[in-house]
Amino acid sequence: MKFIIDDADIEKVREIWDLYPCDGVTTNPSILAKSGRNPYEVLTELREIVGKDGELHVQVVSNAEGMVKEAAVIRERLGENTFVKIPTTPQGLKAMKILSAQGVNITATAIYTPMQGFLAAKAGAKYAAPYVNRIDNMGYDGIKTAMDIHDIFENNGLNTEVLAASFKNSQQVLELTKYGIGAATVGTAVIEGLIKNAAITSAIDAFVDDFAGLVGEGKTMMDC
Ligand code: E4P
Repeated sequence: MKFIIDDADIEKVREIWDLYPCDGVTTNPSILAKSGRNPYEVLTELREIVGKDGELHVQVVSNAEGMVKEAAVIRERLGENTFVKIPTTPQGLKAMKILSAQGVNITATAIYTPMQGFLAAKAGAKYAAPYVNRIDNMGYDGIKTAMDIHDIFENNGLNTEVLAASFKNSQQVLELTKYGIGAATVGTAVIEGLIKNAAITSAIDAFVDDFAGLVGEGKTMMDC
């Protein structure tokens, strides 16, 4: 499973990218709006963080014809491998068909139902992004929806992966990790909670204390 950061706070993304084994960054218009800056300024800095081969996902906002034009500008300014995020609507499906035929990396987004996932895959998307927590909030089962989409791809021989999004807790991420979906994009606050655990901290503190008792305060394996 690819592990992706769902944020555009440059300092936070830089910190998480440095510490955790991440494969890329996803953004959407709302995430970019939080920066209050020019989108391309922010996205260029995110591209620098993930490097030329890291995944960067950028969403378009117009109708089919406009989406195709937006995709060209996004790829010109941020690299041809940039994933163009396209909402899974009828207009979006039309744009996906055109862009996938041109070899553009597409992430089908705003997915709330398995049928959206199926149609996005048929239209050539590389990823389909179900919004796990938002689905839960509607009274449905976000994890099950993501698993159903994963199964639909497998059972139909579709070359598309689930990129689950909209997580609000570690359990949601873990359930889909166990299932072996293609990718999860997770906000920085949730990432920071994934392995935050008093038992871990306490175990490490005890190791440090015991070692200090053996070789002296502040000494490490380099200087004893
Ligand atoms: C990612 O592709 C989605 O845009 C994002 O994860 C939605 O997350 P939210 O429900 O936390 O806004």
